[in-house]
Amino acid sequence: MEQQYQSSSEYLQAVINSLDDELIIIGQDFRITKVNAAVVKRHGGKRARVIGQYCYEVSHGTHEPCQPPSCECPVTRVWETGKPVRVTHTHRYDIGGESQEKYVDITASPLRDSQGNITEVVELIRDVTEAKRLTRQMREAHQNLLASRQELVRWNIDLENKIQQRIKELSALNAVVTTVSQSLNLDKILNDALLKILAVMEVEAGVVHLVDEKTDQLIIMVQRGLLPEYVREIMKLKPGAGIAGRVVQSGEPIVVNDAMDNPKSTTMVGKRGGFRAYISLPVKSKNKVLGTLSLASYTPNKFGLEAVRLLSAMGDAIGIGVENARATKRLEEANKIREQLLKKLISAQEEERRRIARELHDEASQSLAALALNLGAIADTLPVSYHDTRQKLDILKEQAIQTLGGIRNLALELRPIALDELGLPMAIDWYVKDYLVKRGLDVKIEVINPKTKLPSYTETMLFRIIQEALTNIVKHAEASKVRVQLQLSDSMAIVQVEDNGKGFEVEATPSREDTQRNLGIHGMAERATLLGGTFTIKSQLGQGTCLRVEVPLMEGNISHE
Ligand SMILES: Nc1ncnc2c1ncn2[C@@H]1O[C@H](COP(=O)(O)OP(=O)(O)OP(=O)(O)O)[C@@H](O)[C@H]1O
Ligand SMILES: [Mg+2]
Repeated sequence: MEQQYQSSSEYLQAVINSLDDELIIIGQDFRITKVNAAVVKRHGGKRARVIGQYCYEVSHGTHEPCQPPSCECPVTRVWETGKPVRVTHTHRYDIGGESQEKYVDITASPLRDSQGNITEVVELIRDVTEAKRLTRQMREAHQNLLASRQELVRWNIDLENKIQQRIKELSALNAVVTTVSQSLNLDKILNDALLKILAVMEVEAGVVHLVDEKTDQLIIMVQRGLLPEYVREIMKLKPGAGIAGRVVQSGEPIVVNDAMDNPKSTTMVGKRGGFRAYISLPVKSKNKVLGTLSLASYTPNKFGLEAVRLLSAMGDAIGIGVENARATKRLEEANKIREQLLKKLISAQEEERRRIARELHDEASQSLAALALNLGAIADTLPVSYHDTRQKLDILKEQAIQTLGGIRNLALELRPIALDELGLPMAIDWYVKDYLVKRGLDVKIEVINPKTKLPSYTETMLFRIIQEALTNIVKHAEASKVRVQLQLSDSMAIVQVEDNGKGFEVEATPSREDTQRNLGIHGMAERATLLGGTFTIKSQLGQGTCLRVEVPLMEGNISHE
């Protein structure tokens, strides 16, 4: 291959020119003595721009050799050490009339003569701008990645904190809602709810005002942590008065972040207990403001947006609790009134029955008895020849006696005199025999402690229950055997009536609301309830029926007449 070249120096020159890297030979005076084709090309094909020029002028555009620490001159190092050296420099080149900065890797090596003395320095220069750029880009990308990762970690921690905070808030809300829903007693609801809110929100003082439905005034229902003098001051607030009054009017919360900024903002903070932050929120139900929930804390800025949101939800929970408690109270009151009316009605009915029964017994039956007696007497005085008339008188007397029996039965149905005169056990005994035995039923009566004295009202009610049970047996049961038990003690009266009849499906009995008929069973249950007792009825088709009434004999039960 060498033969194609005139001399080995030409061959060498060709090899050097074939290099893509730039090769520069520099003399001791830093002047460039030789360059390869790559250098000439970079300088626009103009050799004169480089040959004979100072290397630092060509490469850096400076008028002096490179100086550490900004840039170490490889030429100087080679001259000093006699060893090859490798450095990376930034070179400025004029490319297409535009000055460009390039990163170059320079390997500078000594060129020695035959005696080994350094004559010149050879620099092999490789453009590493692209590699540098890529490295820098990679480094930047890596740094960006690291930054994003850190950002992600921070974001994750932030999210985790937010979730934890949300869980804390929700469990706090849940605690309040649970507290509120555990009772239907207004005072208990408000007291428990306020205690729970103070605990979960870590707040020192609080008060719940409710709007009085009659006067529209705000009245303290419960408070914690406030000075007594201050409580007296806000015990009753006129409509619109104070912060709570304004909250009721607007339906919106009022927050004081730091009372020190404006000590007059509310009397609940500042000197009145050293509180710094304050909040008052509406207690609402179905968009109606029922009152306010106000809290005060020694920590300024205690009630941020999150707290306001959470407390608003708690205020709503209390509102629902208040509404429920009030509805329950109204229902209880209505029930009490209904119960009282019912008792009055029953008493009036009993009184009327008693009066009519007495009238029938004392007047109608006495007159009929006298009539029968007189008819008999008249018949006896008639001569035997008045046979026909005597017969007619006897028939009349018989009719009078039958009517007398009918009237006695009627009086009995209305109100057995035995009940008033001999007490419940005897009245039952007498009634059962009269009513059931007559109809051919096999009846067993058991009375435990028959001497126990029951209140008249209780006796009447129990008698009516037994009366209805026996009527049902005669009307529906088709039974052959009946057992009536009455267990009495100082504290309890228990009535049990069993039959061996056809039975019925208790569940299928229409409810009181469904029908105006079949009032018997509901009436028995109602009477038992009015006595503060219980009523149970068990029945199965073909298996007979058993009903049981248990009534406590306490003070409250025995005062009704
Ligand atoms: N001892 C019983 N044996 C079989 N069925 C009974 C018995 N007691 C009640 N029942 C059934 O239960 C139904 C409801 O009884 P309830 O006393 O309420 O009403 P009623 O007797 O039909 O009518 P009312 O008592 O209002 O005059 C009866 O219609 C009957 O079908
Ligand atoms: Mg009935």
